[in-house]
Amino acid sequence: MRHETIEKNINLMMVLIIVAVSIGGIVEIVPLMFSSDATEPAEGIEPYSPLRLAGRDVYVREGCYNCHSQQIRPFRSETERYGPYSVAGEFVYDRPFQFGSKRTGPDLARVGGRYSDDWHRLHLIDPRVLVPESNMPGYPWLEERIVDPELLTAKLKTLKLLGDPYTDEQIAGAAAAVEGKTEMDALIAYLQGLGINRSNRR
Ligand code: HEC
Repeated sequence: MRHETIEKNINLMMVLIIVAVSIGGIVEIVPLMFSSDATEPAEGIEPYSPLRLAGRDVYVREGCYNCHSQQIRPFRSETERYGPYSVAGEFVYDRPFQFGSKRTGPDLARVGGRYSDDWHRLHLIDPRVLVPESNMPGYPWLEERIVDPELLTAKLKTLKLLGDPYTDEQIAGAAAAVEGKTEMDALIAYLQGLGINRSNRR
């Protein structure tokens, strides 16, 4: 009977829905505000080196996240295949996160060190050379495009403003660190860094 009153009064229903959703939200969000897990870097996690940062931007630009996630869920089927599950502290320097939700290809959160640089180069130019059944597109143009060194100095400065602990020496050396590197070099450096700093890595 009382329920019928609520169902027939849209304003009352709206207020009650807002109350219900707020309680749900508070229960989930407030504990995160007081926990350092999501804001403090996990052991061994450092800001991206200039070359890896450049590679990360290539990864984002080329839309690799449309087919690859970077988040290993805490299930046996995932940890057996990809390694230890992801924790929040691994992503504090990721702006924005590359979690992704589509896995046309495998998760890449711990792909660093799994293959050689040469493997990645061949694979990124034409995946079918190494994996005949692959439906991943090739990215041959990355070999021809050179990373802009000045842009890296600006990016590091901006990230420092946002709180990433880059030192002045790192910022001063950023341009030199990527001088003459191709976008392919940068992307490979980025991929080779994924997951390698985790202390509980297998
Ligand atoms: C259309 C979907 C698609 C897109 C877009 C895509 N991939 Fe893939 N990727 C795949 C598939 C499928 C595989 C598994 C077959 C293979 O190894 O080629 C794969 C495999 C990989 C692997 C090997 C992973 C492993 O553990 O064996 C790497 C590394 C990789 N992709 C990187 C990238 C990068 C970097 C980009 C963006 C420049 C990208 N992929 C874009 C579908 C995609």
